[in-house]
Amino acid sequence: MITALDHIAIAVPDLEKAIKRFVEDFGLPMGGREDVSSAKTTAAFLPLPPTNIELVYPLNGEGPIATYLEKKGGGLHHLCFRSDNIEEDVARLRGKGYQFLGDAPTPGAHGSMVIFIHPKSCDGVLIEINQPAEEH
Ligand code: CO
Repeated sequence: MITALDHIAIAVPDLEKAIKRFVEDFGLPMGGREDVSSAKTTAAFLPLPPTNIELVYPLNGEGPIATYLEKKGGGLHHLCFRSDNIEEDVARLRGKGYQFLGDAPTPGAHGSMVIFIHPKSCDGVLIEINQPAEEH
């Protein structure tokens, strides 16, 4: 079951500058950062309960975020729905015809399991589903 809007992710061309903007100008706390090698992404999290802003930046200058930045220069990248049972939600949505990027959930940030729904299944919006570490 989908239980929350876990985060909204923004792809940024300059991570330090973006962190500074969200912390100093918008006053959000810095929640931490993490290199997610499986996604070739560096992610910075800024909590804004009950959700979070995730700034995503290419790890080692390559990967899907690098491609996105080359095409668009930055922008809203994805929404993430939190699930309390990711396998069940993926199976249910596959049954309704949703296409996923990848066959099964893979390790994401903070030890969570994550999978993405193809944007063409959701009117052009990339949607991530995650299940936090403590729930799987
Ligand atoms: Co995300």
